[in-house]
Amino acid sequence: MKKVLIPTKLEKVARELLTATGRYEVIQDDAENLKKLAGENPDAYAVIVRSNPVTPEIIDSLPRLKLIVRAGTGFNTIDSQYARKKGIDVMNTPGANANAVAEEVIALMLADARYLVRAEISTRAGKWEKKRFMGREITGKTVGLLGLGNIGQLVAKRLSGFEVKLLGYDPIVTLEQARAFNVEFTDVETIFAQSDYVSLHIPENAQTKKLVGLKLLSLMKDGATLINCARAGIVDEDAVREVKKSKKIRFLNDVYAKDAEGVKSVTDIADIMLPHLGASTVEANTNAARMAAEQIIEFDETGTCSAIVNRA
Ligand code: NAD
Ligand code: MLT
Repeated sequence: MKKVLIPTKLEKVARELLTATGRYEVIQDDAENLKKLAGENPDAYAVIVRSNPVTPEIIDSLPRLKLIVRAGTGFNTIDSQYARKKGIDVMNTPGANANAVAEEVIALMLADARYLVRAEISTRAGKWEKKRFMGREITGKTVGLLGLGNIGQLVAKRLSGFEVKLLGYDPIVTLEQARAFNVEFTDVETIFAQSDYVSLHIPENAQTKKLVGLKLLSLMKDGATLINCARAGIVDEDAVREVKKSKKIRFLNDVYAKDAEGVKSVTDIADIMLPHLGASTVEANTNAARMAAEQIIEFDETGTCSAIVNRA
C-alpha cells in the first residue's frame, strides 16, 4: 500500500476515494503539522497539502516521496524546484476554488461600496448613521482584472449582471479569448488608470513580487478600489500607504504573508480585511479534495497528470 499524508483539514472525499482503490493507506491529521506526520511516516509516497509549507527539509525527510499535491491553486508555499531536483512531481487542483474566490471578490465590492461592515456594527450598537453610509453602485463602473485565468475569467462572468465595463491583461490570453468573456484586452497601466475597481488574480512568484507598487498605484483614479484576493507578496504595502496619503484609493484584502493570528501589516491601510476566506466554502474544499485524490490515482494509472506544475 502507498502512504498518502494529509496534514490538514481536507474534506473526507479525498480519503474516501484513495482508500476505495485498495492501493493507498491515507494518514490524515487536521493538526497542520506536516513535519510531525513526515517524521512518523518517512516511507510516504504522496502528500496532499493546502497552504502548509513544503520545504527542502520536509522533502528530505520523505526519501520515497513521489508526489506533492496542493489542494488549491497557489503553490508558492511549496519548493517546487527543489522537489523537481529530487524527482518529485508537484500538482495543484486548477479551478477547484475559482468560483469561491470570484464570489468573494463581488461580495467585497458590494460590502465596500455600501459600507456593509461598518453599517452593521454601527446599527447593532444602537446608532442610526444612515447619512454617513451613503454608498456607490457597481453597475456601470469599470472593473480591471490583472490575470485572466480560472478566477479572473469567472469574476468577469459573474460581474456580467452588473453591466460593468471589463478591462483585463494576461500574458497568455489572446485578445479574442478575452473578448469571448466580454473583457477588453489592454495593458496593465490602462487597467490601473481607467478602472474603478482593480482586482488581482495572478500567482505570486519572482516576476510578480511587489508588481503592484508606486508606479501602478499612482495611476489609480481618486476613489478607486484595489482588491487583493490573490497573494500578499504581489502588493507593495508601503506603496499603498504612500499613495493613500494623497489619494482616496481603497484597499480590500484577503491574503497575508502568513496565515496566522496576530496583528496584520495591512491593518492601517486595508478598508476591509478578511482571513484568507477566498476558497473557504464547502463546495471549493470538496472540489479541491476530490481533484487531489483523482489526480493521484490518474498519475499512478497513466504516469502523468495535466495539473503537474513543476515539469521543467
Ligand atoms: P490561474 O493559474 O488559472 O490564472 C492565473 C493567471 O495569471 C494565468 O493565466 C497567468 O498567465 C496570469 N498571470 C501570471 N502573471 C501575470 C502578470 N504579471 N500579469 C497578468 N497576468 C499574469 O490561477 P487562478 O486559479 O486564477 O488563481 C490566481 C491566483 O489566485 C493563484 O495563483 C493564487 O495565488 C490565488 N488564489 C487565492 C485564493 C484565496 O483563497 N484568496 C484562492 C485561489 C487562488
Ligand atoms: C489557493 O491558492 O488555492 C488558496 O489561497 C486556497 C487556500 O490556501 O486556502
